[in-house]
Amino acid sequence: PKLIVVTREGQESTVEGEAGLSVMEVIRDAGFDELLALCGGCCSCATCHIHVDPAFADRLPPMSEDENDLLDSSDYRTATSRLSCQIPFGDSLDGLKVTIAEED
Ligand code: FES
Repeated sequence: PKLIVVTREGQESTVEGEAGLSVMEVIRDAGFDELLALCGGCCSCATCHIHVDPAFADRLPPMSEDENDLLDSSDYRTATSRLSCQIPFGDSLDGLKVTIAEED
């Protein structure tokens, strides 16, 4: 499945992602090192913050309390904010467009 990644500078790229990885891993594997993902996907750092295309909102897994609390620590949280390590990638998200959030 394809993932569309928009960098902080607004540059858009389409990458092929492996189903079963998290969206964070797909972004990192594609070479976008501006997504720090410091904790490696443990839901404890919030440096994998992305904004997700609202058209896909109902296909995303619900947010855990931990994810919600971590996002609250960001100055850049919006209604489309998610932690990319908490979203499993797969065919149901083919064509998902995500924007890497501003760095706190
Ligand atoms: Fe740390 Fe997602 S990589 S919370």
